[in-house]
Amino acid sequence: MISRTYDHNYLYHLDKVFSKTKEYRLRNLNPTSTDTVVDLGCGIGLDAQRIAACGAKVIAIDFDESFIEKARLMNDNSKIKFYNSSIYELPIESNTVSKITIDRVFQHLENHDAAFNEINRVLVKNGKIQITDTDYLSMTFFTEFIQLEKKLINFIATEKIPNAWKVRILFNNIESYGYKVINRISHDYSFNSIEIANSIVRFNKIFNDGYKTGYFSDEELLEWEKIKSNFKFSMNLLTIDAIKI
Ligand SMILES: C[S@@+](CC[C@H](N)C(=O)[O-])C[C@H]1O[C@@H](n2cnc3c(N)ncnc32)[C@H](O)[C@@H]1O
Repeated sequence: MISRTYDHNYLYHLDKVFSKTKEYRLRNLNPTSTDTVVDLGCGIGLDAQRIAACGAKVIAIDFDESFIEKARLMNDNSKIKFYNSSIYELPIESNTVSKITIDRVFQHLENHDAAFNEINRVLVKNGKIQITDTDYLSMTFFTEFIQLEKKLINFIATEKIPNAWKVRILFNNIESYGYKVINRISHDYSFNSIEIANSIVRFNKIFNDGYKTGYFSDEELLEWEKIKSNFKFSMNLLTIDAIKI
């Protein structure tokens, strides 16, 4: 049983919120009928469907059984095969895949080296990898309470999503796994309401959890109320396209 804090509705919602990045990713991945594309951490298969609609064969993998069940139910394209499997153990033969796409999955991975052992095993030489992830450490509330802002963001990127901070290292360091970067881009997302922000990152719940355990003080609770009363928020989504050398 996988423990997670979001469901398939959340994945639908973020697919729309991040549509600018989704469109950019598909354009740059440029899947064709000669490609076999792997979508790692495919969720409910929304990217897999878009890639298959371009004519590519798609192997879509997620370790969450209920997401894979939902993805299979919604799919009517025989070019997609869904597998309930972990990134650390791919049900794919070595050197058989031309492109791999991974959207907001590395933030959940503890062991990037082990993931790349598998990715590099299945991806052919000159094959393409595309990684998108949330740079949680880029978040800002445009507030005067900068100590609390930093504290809350660090709490999210190191404790609530314990591996999220490592995404920055990956984006600086992908060459060390045997890749040549061809594109590196950051999309900025800005929102003006706490309701929308909460639908993306559950700030209220996260702050309240921290307050209950004493991580945040009474004084910081007052500051948080002031931040919320005039809430502005932005964060970056990073995307890298790279070639295996
Ligand atoms: C934020 S969701 C993104 C889903 C999808 N890529 C999308 O763009 O809608 C992260 C996904 O990664 C999957 N995931 C996390 N760790 C995984 C692992 N070790 N192996 C396979 N899937 C994993 C989760 O189950 C979830 O579906």
